[in-house]
Amino acid sequence: MGKDTLSITDNRTGKTYEIPIQEGAIRALDLRQIKNGPDDFGLMTYDPAFTNTAACRSRITFIDGDKGVLLYRGYPIQELAEKSTYLETAYLILNGELPARAQHEDWVHNITYHTMVHENIKELMGSFRYDAHPMGMLVSTVAALSTFYPDAKAIHDPQNRRTQGFRLIAKMPTLAAFVYRHSVGTPYAYPDNELGYCGNFLQMMFKLAGKYRVNPVLERALEVLFILHADHEQNCSTSAMRSVGSSEVDPYSATAAAIAALYGPLHGGANEAVLRMLREIGGRERVPAFIKEVKESGGEVRLMGFGHRVYKNYDPRANIIKKMAEQVFEVTGRNPLLDIALELERIALQDEYFVKRKLYPNVDFYSGLIYQAMGFPVDMFPVLFAIPRTAGWLAQWDEMLQDKDQKIARPRQIYRGPAERPYVPLEARS
Ligand code: ACO
Repeated sequence: MGKDTLSITDNRTGKTYEIPIQEGAIRALDLRQIKNGPDDFGLMTYDPAFTNTAACRSRITFIDGDKGVLLYRGYPIQELAEKSTYLETAYLILNGELPARAQHEDWVHNITYHTMVHENIKELMGSFRYDAHPMGMLVSTVAALSTFYPDAKAIHDPQNRRTQGFRLIAKMPTLAAFVYRHSVGTPYAYPDNELGYCGNFLQMMFKLAGKYRVNPVLERALEVLFILHADHEQNCSTSAMRSVGSSEVDPYSATAAAIAALYGPLHGGANEAVLRMLREIGGRERVPAFIKEVKESGGEVRLMGFGHRVYKNYDPRANIIKKMAEQVFEVTGRNPLLDIALELERIALQDEYFVKRKLYPNVDFYSGLIYQAMGFPVDMFPVLFAIPRTAGWLAQWDEMLQDKDQKIARPRQIYRGPAERPYVPLEARS
């Protein structure tokens, strides 16, 4: 019978160390005892981009990237997408269990009650240029919420954390819709608390003069897209939320940091990049030439919406979205870019370059096509990602704050700069 330990022999000194293995991991700090001499700092691990470092224990989301499995609190994403609503899923992610009926009613009431934002937020938005990117505006307005709710600094009070959670989840659609209204110049539409979370968001986005009727197919599609985006364990924006939150800043500031991380084209900005790429390709017949360009560029030109750090198989969320696209297009009319996307996928999945690197469509490959067909402008896509991900960020932040192992995040470095040297006055510099 083997032991749950790892023996390491340091060939510099000939010494052997026995290090415990727990939960499939060794503790990085256990390596510190491995020293080359009394003045040696001790061994570290070098892991830029944290490709093989667990930074926390989590009970929220499970991914098996090789098998294409995604579970929230143990429930398969396919079942949640089929049977749940976004708010119910958000409750599950935050609280660990599906809500009983009374809990569900309370939860929905609390979120609905907090949908309004302070009028000064509107003024703040008004000061942005007409063509400001919606994500830039969202980062700033969410950060600004911290100044409206200074009570949010009491992060060690669980009830206070819950209250800020209601506020953030409730206000994100309002802020997102206001951001959009600013860019098109139409008056802001206030929340309608008679409607559900997604229906209300649609009316705040698209209602003009007269009554706005929420289309049930589009409302359901949005629910599903929001469920699929609600959490995804330790991705770039969630790590930002945890890392910034570890300084014990308020949740609005930490969420603003997470939104900033999501803005990047390699993360939540990818669905926007996919649409731009599809437009640039312009037609099915030009797909082979584009694939060739990607392959020959040595990684510079990427097939956006393909590849994932964790999934080395079809992203299960992409499968759900691809199927749902047909239902949405029955209402909105077919998005002509779909044919280009299908052709890209068909060719890429047969091509040795993509097969060898296990590059499959990710969640962003098809989501943009649906959003565009529903009438959302391309630069709103990452905002549509940020709204539902807020539940995941908050759950991860809450878990981090309650985890006794966590401290302020502070990685180590391997210093490669100059050794100590004296200051050279300006006149003496060549
Ligand atoms: N198109 C072409 N080649 C790719 C792509 C792509 N989309 N993604 C990865 N590769 C290639 C790389 O060039 C590299 O090739 P090499 O081994 O010859 O150097 C290899 O595949 C591995 O790529 P890495 O960049 O090391 O993979 P990593 O895990 O770091 O990156 C990422 C994952 C960022 C998602 C990457 O696949 C990518 O840039 N995809 C396009 C952007 C995208 O769709 N992002 C959305 C991700 S999902 C989300 O955030 C919601």
